[in-house]
Amino acid sequence: NHILTENDFVEQNTLKYPFEERGLQFGDGIYEVIRVYKGNYYLIDEHVERLYRSAAAVKIAVPYRKEDLYQRLDELLKKNDVDGDASVYLQITRGSAPRDHAFPYQTNANLYAYVKDLSRPLEFLREGVTAITQEDVRWDWCYIKSLNLLPNVLAKQAAKESGSYEAILHKNGEVTECSSSNVYFVRDGKVYTHPAKKNILHGCVRMRVEAFCKEENIEFIEEAFRIEDLPNAEELFLSSSTSEVMPLLKVDGQKIGDGRPGPITRKLQQCYEKDAN
Ligand code: PDD
Repeated sequence: NHILTENDFVEQNTLKYPFEERGLQFGDGIYEVIRVYKGNYYLIDEHVERLYRSAAAVKIAVPYRKEDLYQRLDELLKKNDVDGDASVYLQITRGSAPRDHAFPYQTNANLYAYVKDLSRPLEFLREGVTAITQEDVRWDWCYIKSLNLLPNVLAKQAAKESGSYEAILHKNGEVTECSSSNVYFVRDGKVYTHPAKKNILHGCVRMRVEAFCKEENIEFIEEAFRIEDLPNAEELFLSSSTSEVMPLLKVDGQKIGDGRPGPITRKLQQCYEKDAN
């Protein structure tokens, strides 16, 4: 497995980090998960733009110029002979320094990116999945794709332990997003989702969902809904680079709509399918 680092490609088992690495000690870093279909990146521009935005927001200098990063990411797929469905995980940490919360400006950021085979979740996409609700205890800057994922990890673990696929997060009853995806509520044939403010991640697939709605003359309304509203939804679905457009059939054991994937969700899934291929 060839891994891209801040300098060059290395073999997976030669990658080593000093123990005073800020990513390890503080979670001081950012990341992206980019989808690959049939050996080609999907939404690469959106991911690269967000990576640079996240880095700038936390004052980390990305160790590559944008055009070089594009070229390196292409090389990553070639070197690993990727021709199927996969995902690329890329993270950048601030680098190494004697432990201190405040950071020196001279650290050299560490980057690594690697490919993982990842098939599409076809059965879940067809049949739908379930979710639980959890309080959103994260900080106010969730638009930064930061490595600080403990609240997300704990929420997803709670979902898994209750036999669910995802955790829908809410702040004082207002639904923000899920532990690793964005979430949408359909009522009167209109799609509602939390506005792209600083307290949610501006999903790359979310941007496409908005565009699909425009193309299909479905109203896309950036307005948060409340957990009390969930049982009144005609449809619920979530989106992410790994989950695509995923129907949600039950929340906290309660059925949504008629308990089957709805027509708007199906339409948006078709749009996604066309877009990604
Ligand atoms: N997660 N919201 C959160 C909190 C996320 O972590 C993600 C993605 C999304 C969807 O973003 P996008 O459409 O750009 O994938 C929304 C990735 C897949 C992860 O952490 O594995």
